[in-house]
Amino acid sequence: MLNFELYNPVKLIFGKGEIEKLSTLIPKESKVLVAYGGGSIFKNGIYDQVKTALQGFDVVEFGGIEANPYYETLMKAVDIIREQKIDFILAVGGGSVIDGVKFISAAVHFQGNPMDILHQRILFKEGADVVPFGTVLTLPATGSEMNSGSVISIKATQEKRDFGGSAMFPKFSICDPTVIASLPKRQLQNGVIDAYVHVLEQYLTYPHKGYLQDRIAESILQTLIEVGPQVVENPTDYTLASNFMWSCTMALNGLIQKGVPSDWATHMIGHELTALYNIDHARTLAIIGPNLFRVLFETKKEKLAQYGKRVFQLTGTEEEIARQAIEATVAFYHTMGMKTKISENAANIENTADFIVNRFEKRGWKALGERQNLTLDKLREIVELSY
Ligand code: NZQ
Ligand code: ZN
Repeated sequence: MLNFELYNPVKLIFGKGEIEKLSTLIPKESKVLVAYGGGSIFKNGIYDQVKTALQGFDVVEFGGIEANPYYETLMKAVDIIREQKIDFILAVGGGSVIDGVKFISAAVHFQGNPMDILHQRILFKEGADVVPFGTVLTLPATGSEMNSGSVISIKATQEKRDFGGSAMFPKFSICDPTVIASLPKRQLQNGVIDAYVHVLEQYLTYPHKGYLQDRIAESILQTLIEVGPQVVENPTDYTLASNFMWSCTMALNGLIQKGVPSDWATHMIGHELTALYNIDHARTLAIIGPNLFRVLFETKKEKLAQYGKRVFQLTGTEEEIARQAIEATVAFYHTMGMKTKISENAANIENTADFIVNRFEKRGWKALGERQNLTLDKLREIVELSY
């Protein structure tokens, strides 16, 4: 096992009806910016619950944060916070709103061009001058409610970039599984697959003798396989909803990544498909992930075999199990409504590989993956296999 430090200060409040605790979590006398997305919270009653819980606070609202939130939109909230002397932000939404609020929090007091936060991937360490924030999660998927990462899109350059740091953890997050009742099936499917791939990116590397990390990762995968197909049909079932939500948080709150190698290349490539074609985040991962395993099979096959045996109970030679594990993964993605080719999700895609390879080359991303063996040639192969 590798050396590690574990730091996660998020106060996580989980369960039915917990939104009413908001007033006890936000410092008294705060002037609060409530940030939200395109308006789903008005239809499903979450806005009313938040508004009731915030009685007595001085509240300003900022809506319209898009899925795959735009820098350009978020900067409007930064201006409001500066002008109106707001001292706490409450994100009410899914990963996009929460990530957007992380960026807003970081940008308000940032000395310099806020775009550099993304292009230079500035690290905001504990103690950095950021605006404190909390979250009310409305969509289980990203784990953003309990991690310190953020992914922001830039309209002007058609990019999706990430940043973070230990100052970017929410002060608290309220996770009430009943909020998923109003999620469209597509978003429920996305949530299951995003979380599933988060686990795979921290698990499917090479054997490292981190036995407990592997077992926790496999448990999250098995739980998602068990509840995923059911929860998209029955999102009002509390048992399914709560297990789904907690699996998503556990998949990316930092725990399973400690002491083990990880490989975020599927996400990095997937972000380009969202930036280019506006394909939902999770759907880009379902397209790229299996092809990445195929192209990097030689260096991932031991872990693929372990995954095949323990998660899918496959039998055969190590090589056979490893290959079947990729097919079983694709089958699960299909069960969850994913279309695993770019051409099934977008049109006019013939220049995709050129575009992504050029972009990664310019950024100096020429050796990704847990063994730094994902070269630009392999990248091209992965993207072309995904057409
Ligand atoms: O905007 P509204 O109207 O609220 O509608 C949203 C949005 O259209 C809707 N929705 C959310 N909660 C709902 C609801 N509809 C009905 N009922 C509810 N309870 O769902 C749509 C998608 O929301 P979004 O927040 O975009 O989805 P998700 O949580 O999947 O977030 C995706 C974003 O997170 C980033 C992605 O790149 C993408 O930008 N990620 C963030 C990560 C992190 N911070 O750690 C890691 C991930 O890998 C990911 O990259
Ligand atoms: Zn993701």
